[in-house]
Amino acid sequence: MLNISQVLSQYNTKIKKISRQPDLESQLILAFVLKKPRSYILAHTDSELSKQQLSITTKLFARRLSGEPLAYLTGEQEFGELSFKVNKYTLIPRWETELMVEQALSLAHNSTNTTILDIGTGSGCIAITLAKKLPQVTVIASDKSARALAVAKINATRHEVKITWLTGNLLQSLIKKINLLPKNTKQLITTANLPYVPSAYLKNLKSKDKIGLKFEPLSALNGGSDGLKYYRELSKQIKHLKNLRPKLIITVLMEIQPGQVGAMQKIFEHNFIIKDLAKKDRLVIANF
Ligand SMILES: C[S@@+](CC[C@H](N)C(=O)[O-])C[C@H]1O[C@@H](n2cnc3c(N)ncnc32)[C@H](O)[C@@H]1O
Repeated sequence: MLNISQVLSQYNTKIKKISRQPDLESQLILAFVLKKPRSYILAHTDSELSKQQLSITTKLFARRLSGEPLAYLTGEQEFGELSFKVNKYTLIPRWETELMVEQALSLAHNSTNTTILDIGTGSGCIAITLAKKLPQVTVIASDKSARALAVAKINATRHEVKITWLTGNLLQSLIKKINLLPKNTKQLITTANLPYVPSAYLKNLKSKDKIGLKFEPLSALNGGSDGLKYYRELSKQIKHLKNLRPKLIITVLMEIQPGQVGAMQKIFEHNFIIKDLAKKDRLVIANF
């Protein structure tokens, strides 16, 4: 039988090769297997694992060592103050996307005249966080992946928020069912963390920094040759929506990679750029 300390040291060197936070990740894997908080792992290093616990631990470490992200092993990812279920059909929410939520919160009025529309909702992390913080506001969320939406719905139930779900390409379903947008909506805040990674970047995913992407849905990452094909299409669809509701004030928040700013400024006329905590251009906000 092995104890916690022995298991940790057994994987220590191996996990360093694929993780930037090897100690933390090893402790979290054991915490998940033992169904205990991480503090328990740190405080009970002499505690022995049962045969079954050891077998599960071995399998999970093997998956992690193959590059699979920790969030897919545990099925959970923290985003802001909440935890979200994730699986292979959903992108793992990233810390930099919390900037989009912060900015949406600073722009949105917590009133029944505001509607939030989250496009490419994935796990639902943006829509659900906003719905929790803005209880007066109607929240609509869409994704083209029905499997991702199924996960988002579970997360909405977990966090007790009401959201209207749509399946389809960007705004198309809303444009077809425009009556879903409450008639009294004056302000439409649209959050869009759409796939924006250039295709070529996704060709070779062997390095430590990129290997995790291999396990995430390509349809959540691949934004075409320059990464901006969905944002281009979105700009056209928004103009269509604006024609249907000319008095609507539409603000769109879009996450990007640093380096895409120039191209985005050509696609979206009235825009400004926000940097993330690492001081990198991360968010384009455009008004219609
Ligand atoms: C980068 S992920 C973002 C997921 C989530 N919003 C987040 O921030 O973690 C992009 C999401 O957009 C969805 N998607 C891709 N193309 C789409 C399209 N044409 N219309 C609607 N959703 C799309 C993908 O299925 C995926 O869930």
